[in-house]
Amino acid sequence: TKPLTLQGVHVLVTAGPTREMADPVRFLSNPSSGRMGFAIAEEAARRGAEVTLIAGPVELSTPPEVHRVNVVSAEEMYNAVTKHLSAEAIVVKTAAVSDYRPKTYQAQKAKKEDGETVLELERTPDILKMLGEQKEAQFLVGFAAETDEVETYAKDKLERKNLDMVVANDITADGAGFAGDTNEVMIMTKEETHRLPALTKRETSVQIWDAVEQNRCKGQG
Ligand code: C5P
Repeated sequence: TKPLTLQGVHVLVTAGPTREMADPVRFLSNPSSGRMGFAIAEEAARRGAEVTLIAGPVELSTPPEVHRVNVVSAEEMYNAVTKHLSAEAIVVKTAAVSDYRPKTYQAQKAKKEDGETVLELERTPDILKMLGEQKEAQFLVGFAAETDEVETYAKDKLERKNLDMVVANDITADGAGFAGDTNEVMIMTKEETHRLPALTKRETSVQIWDAVEQNRCKGQG
């Protein structure tokens, strides 16, 4: 068995997609399976952390020793994160939060009509950006799913959102990204970029926690 290197540490993980309802039967979402985030929560618990997992709508069972909070929309995820955040937490934002939501919610199912229609959208709150702006002693890890110029966009995210680490992947690469069991990521801090080979999401989560533990020690020492 491994040493409990995260014993007593509070870890907050978000995972899965969010779902933004337009009416009772229609929503805007994305293909996130939640697997990467659930693997990250599971590995943190295995290392002894106190883990809160804030999960969008996914078909996955809760990892052992993990406290799970289910949410549907970006707004609910924002509220849950705010409620469960502590000043010294390690926050890993794996969730694929919907960037837009329908501007209005129709309580009655909208009737279909012939021809085209327009759905008005507005931005959802950027949870990670808010965390970066209000950062106390937290260690913030963001994810960046990109289709091109991965390193450039991920570096930019690190700076712009005031993060300590970004895990970036090219979601167009074979065996990477949303739905599969494997992932091929880069772990980036302000100082360095570490490219990992294609690994299972479980193996990837082990590498991510090793990197977080190393960098957190640097920050404290
Ligand atoms: O800017 P972009 O959406 O690509 O950044 C991705 C990172 O930001 C992910 O870690 C994601 O969980 C987080 N995010 C968020 N709230 C949003 C959008 C993204 O926390 N509304």
